[in-house]
Amino acid sequence: MASASESRHGMWSSGWLFILAAAGSAVGLGNIWKFPYIAGENGGGAFVLVYLGCVALVGIPILAGEVLLGRAGRASPINAMRKHVIAASGSPLWVLIGWSGALAGFLILSYYAVIAGWALYYGVKLGEGALVGASIEVANQTFNDFLADPWQLILWQTVFLGGTVWIVARGVIKGLETAIRWFMPLLFLLLVVLLAYAFNSGGFMAGAEFLLSPNWEAMSVDGLLVAMGQAFFTLSLGMGAMMAYGAYVPANASIGNTVITVALLDTVVAIAAGLAIFPIVFANGLEPGQGPGLMFVTIPFAFGQMPFGAVFGVVFFVLVTFAAITSAISLTEPALAYLVEQYNADRSRVAISLGVFCWLLGLGTVFSFNIWSDVHVVAGLSVFEFIDYLTQNVMLPLGGLLIALFVGYVLPKQLAREQLGIDGGIVARLWPLLIGFVAPVGVAVVFVYTIYQSL
Ligand code: PHE
Repeated sequence: MASASESRHGMWSSGWLFILAAAGSAVGLGNIWKFPYIAGENGGGAFVLVYLGCVALVGIPILAGEVLLGRAGRASPINAMRKHVIAASGSPLWVLIGWSGALAGFLILSYYAVIAGWALYYGVKLGEGALVGASIEVANQTFNDFLADPWQLILWQTVFLGGTVWIVARGVIKGLETAIRWFMPLLFLLLVVLLAYAFNSGGFMAGAEFLLSPNWEAMSVDGLLVAMGQAFFTLSLGMGAMMAYGAYVPANASIGNTVITVALLDTVVAIAAGLAIFPIVFANGLEPGQGPGLMFVTIPFAFGQMPFGAVFGVVFFVLVTFAAITSAISLTEPALAYLVEQYNADRSRVAISLGVFCWLLGLGTVFSFNIWSDVHVVAGLSVFEFIDYLTQNVMLPLGGLLIALFVGYVLPKQLAREQLGIDGGIVARLWPLLIGFVAPVGVAVVFVYTIYQSL
């Protein structure tokens, strides 16, 4: 058995590596693909402001809560919650946080791998010189033809999931940490290059204005729920990924500094991705609210117009894939670590089995875009839209709400203070207010409001 100061799965080599790992989990398709398109659908600036409020007031406290639960438990989220519940003599029902998280990670990965596969496909396609000098209609048509072919989608989904399983199977240090060390710095570099291109595209001001100046009329109540859901999704909250990663954090790392750095990095990448994409949208008279296809039509089109576009295009989509992989590995960790602990199982076998189940479930998403495009699970939602809605707007916020309540009211206050390294001063006084009141009330209000609206 590992001692309480170490996890049996391994430990991050340093506090800095944990920041990179957590940022790797946070920065992913949520920032580069989802954020721009949902900001586009919800009218831009006002949505961004609401989203920033959710990150600051709700996201950061819950992120700190998850990491401290993980580090104090030194086990998978399910087993960490078991330990905390026993130590605090709380209800065993709190362990449901761990179970729902492991399930949510699995559900998210099922579609995440499909979308990440699209990025892989585009990397290859642009490398072949496709779309060089093509019109926007051709870029649109290319995307639609691709979605219509389930075999293509399955091929790329399989490649992405295979890569994820391969990394995850190699373990925390050899697999996760190595991938993170390489992929994260490269990703930041590329975003800067893309921003520079957007800046010169002629539409930068229109794009920046759309994203940064609030137009409250375009913001709906639904947008509020989407903003809250996005804050959870983009920070990888509410499903135990950060709790699982927290279990591998060295005892001397500062949780407070880490979570603020991670939230900042994540936000900067999301805004940068928006600032790279919307200028291109406006410079070419495209529609900002076009939905999930936004990144896969505008970016390839833009690269088709620029010198050496094929090269940059390949690099961009390869890096989107890297960003997605560093998130995907964290989606598997709660379930994986639990199965390894519970059955003393071999990590690679568990990784492969989880990968196979995820692949099967992912077929539901694949078919949502072609042969099942008329199949609606509930309320007109396709399989993909249903899983996306259920996880992002229901499971993650609910998980986060329970985590906040648990840390705020069940976990011994002294334990939280020790983990956060706060003994007195303003942070020590603010912390109980944030985790016990502002964060849970924020999530709860958004929920009740949405339910009230839909009655
Ligand atoms: N945060 C990741 C992204 O933005 C997605 C994710 C969600 C990863 C939940 C882990 C857990 O793409």
